[in-house]
Amino acid sequence: MDESKKVQIQEKKIHHLVILPLPFQGHINPMLQLGTILHSKGFSITVIHTHSNSPNPSNFPNFNFEPIPDGLSDHRLWTEDPLTLVSILNDTCQAPFHDRLSRLISDSQHGPVTCIITDELFHFTKAVADQLKLPRILLGTSSAACYATMSSLDFLQQNGLLSITDCQPDSLIPEIPPLRIKDIPDFSTTDPDTFERLWTNMKNATMSSLGYIMNTFDGLESTALKKVREDRHPIPLIAMGPLYKFSQGASNSLLTQDYSCMAWLDKQVPQSVIYISFGSSASIDKTHMEEIAWGLANSDQPFLWVLRPGSISGHDWVELPEGFEEKTRERGQIIKWAPQPEVLAHPSVGGFWTHNGWNSTLESICEGVPMLCSPYLWDQKVNARYVSHVWRVGMQLENGFERGEIEWAIRRLMVEIEGEEMRERVHDLKENAMHCLEKGGSSYESLESLVDFIMSL
Ligand code: UDX
Repeated sequence: MDESKKVQIQEKKIHHLVILPLPFQGHINPMLQLGTILHSKGFSITVIHTHSNSPNPSNFPNFNFEPIPDGLSDHRLWTEDPLTLVSILNDTCQAPFHDRLSRLISDSQHGPVTCIITDELFHFTKAVADQLKLPRILLGTSSAACYATMSSLDFLQQNGLLSITDCQPDSLIPEIPPLRIKDIPDFSTTDPDTFERLWTNMKNATMSSLGYIMNTFDGLESTALKKVREDRHPIPLIAMGPLYKFSQGASNSLLTQDYSCMAWLDKQVPQSVIYISFGSSASIDKTHMEEIAWGLANSDQPFLWVLRPGSISGHDWVELPEGFEEKTRERGQIIKWAPQPEVLAHPSVGGFWTHNGWNSTLESICEGVPMLCSPYLWDQKVNARYVSHVWRVGMQLENGFERGEIEWAIRRLMVEIEGEEMRERVHDLKENAMHCLEKGGSSYESLESLVDFIMSL
């Protein structure tokens, strides 16, 4: 490195952060948003990332990108279940991450490495950080409600306190209202031990970190955050979401976002369009797709539907049912991937039919859009229940995908008084989010203390 740059780094005491996202869309987004925020605060950022699902460096010209091999073939990436993939990555990434980080430490082109920030599911980073004597901070990408639920269930089960009297899916679990048996987070894998191992390793790795960042805010999840704080004590919990609002313009999409839908939205009546997307990894059956299509067609509402390639189980792409296009040509758009936050912020969008991934849920709340909920697995079931029964800004489709129920639910959300009430409540939450981001707000102050903390390392 040229000497003048070295002197500049030393004089300015530039702090160099290394971030490591888990290579899935719902995890890459918040990590790169966090990197963008910290870069705006003067930190130099290196992203160490797997070859699989690697982010596009040209979207982040100020970051340094360092790829590492992960041993995953494309076939495995598409066929293994996500938790098995996380387990594999924890094994295959450790040595390459250690090597790359050691090289970064000895080559101080970007300033000495102050700290690493990794996705919490990468528990192997504890061993690497210990070996290289580097401080480590974690980013959790789910809701506080999900973490609080998981730790309550752990505690209740271990102490024999869970008073479930029957195992009917609709039965309430009295200790963790308003959750029902069927809302318990679903982390099933082909190997039942995978999740137990991952959860235990993750908890141990968390308790040895210097801090735990969450993509949520006090004005939404103060009760759940209190529970997580108690649970993770003495590790500082830094709730500084919604990260995407702090880092606007940072696009991390793995698929090409189709902006043509924005011009179409411009032509629609305010709050008339229902936007449908089930995130980056949920998939549905062909018959479900047909039920959705007919539910949309029969609802008579304008819609923007994201049908991601691969989102219909066992098919790269399937034809829409015969007659659907004629019936909806004037009022429907189907695209493969959307610029989602921009779509949700568009005045024509009045509802979001979602799988309740945490990013999607947060984006919907922060853009003031009420939801129709079809959770698929993981934390999504808890998120959906909170949307419908705690924040009361949406309703859940309880019986899967059936055209009659879909048609009825869309109308309730989009044109009935019930939907209007949800819209008012979600507007209040949107305002709470804005206050949290302002100077003096909880997320703003959390960010400031995170910056001070890293500077002090
Ligand atoms: C997953 C889990 O579902 C989620 O619950 C977990 O907390 C993180 O990982 P995913 O299923 O992809 O993520 O859902 P979600 O968390 O909602 O993330 C999807 C992201 O992709 C969002 O940030 C959304 O804005 C973006 N997106 C989605 C697009 O950019 N375009 C689209 O068309 C759809």
